[in-house]
Amino acid sequence: MISAMTLILGVALTMVVLHKTRAPLLLGLTALLLSLLGCTSTNYGDDQFQLRMATHGKDIMWMPTKVETTHEMLTLAGVRSTDILYDLGSGDGVIPIEAAKLYGVRAYGIEYNPNLVALSIRNAQRAKVHNLVNFKQGDIFVEDFSQATVLTLFLGESLNTRLMPTILKMKPGTRVVSNTFRMESWIADREIKTRPGETIYLWIVPANIDGLWVMSGLPKGDTANLVIRQKKQLFDGSIDTSMMSHARRTIYFEDGRITGQHIEFAFKDSQNSYIFKGQMSAGQLTGILNNDPKLPVIANRPRR
Ligand SMILES: C[S@@+](CC[C@H](N)C(=O)[O-])C[C@H]1O[C@@H](n2cnc3c(N)ncnc32)[C@H](O)[C@@H]1O
Repeated sequence: MISAMTLILGVALTMVVLHKTRAPLLLGLTALLLSLLGCTSTNYGDDQFQLRMATHGKDIMWMPTKVETTHEMLTLAGVRSTDILYDLGSGDGVIPIEAAKLYGVRAYGIEYNPNLVALSIRNAQRAKVHNLVNFKQGDIFVEDFSQATVLTLFLGESLNTRLMPTILKMKPGTRVVSNTFRMESWIADREIKTRPGETIYLWIVPANIDGLWVMSGLPKGDTANLVIRQKKQLFDGSIDTSMMSHARRTIYFEDGRITGQHIEFAFKDSQNSYIFKGQMSAGQLTGILNNDPKLPVIANRPRR
């Protein structure tokens, strides 16, 4: 039989999913509803702090990520023991604690509510991962999380979007996973529908490759101006070159993609098709054409 709590959670989650852009308000209403009905978490509370789902946050109230969803988010992020994970608005600490338990990873939580921070610390001790996990009381819009290589979110679309400019300045390759909520104007690199009414999203912070580059090592020893117009992890652009014809000409391309530091785009002239695969590192684009190691290409920013 479906319990009252399951029913209410189902209704609440459906409301959240149907109206994602109003997520903080809906999460707040949901939490309030659960609070009024006295629904408590049986899994995470302890005798010092009776955890309620309506527990007060700053920009959004507390609602937990389920343990199985946490595991799915960590899998989607491809967490490794060498990662540094930050959960923004860490609630009772479930995500950092599970990450440390499963992967032995260093994990941090930033949480506004001091009672939840104290509870997270006790939960980490009970889970015997307190040597790997740290919780800090603070505001996610003030605290520094730039050292993260994995970022986890369960905040709502508008808060995700407020964080987006900071996230886009993080190290290229940082994986960002969100429970249920998207970011406006940044399409996810991957999304997985985990169960009815629940989807998890992955973004990989792209390196900044926007603008002008000078490519060398092209067939016939030519150089070319490469202009990239980057929109998050996608880009299009043009190559101004004479490598494939006698007259200098401009080739336009679309559908380029940068995944962290890895770059791929295709272009063609009237005779041949080319695929460039490479990476951005130390301010340089290096790669090969058509998977042929004998066709290495390098691009640098023009000298000023
Ligand atoms: C929906 S809960 C998610 C909790 C946890 N990350 C999880 O997935 O189970 C959002 C959490 O963010 C916290 N929070 C809200 N605004 C915050 C802010 N500006 N800075 C830090 N934490 C905040 C709330 O107290 C709450 O615990």
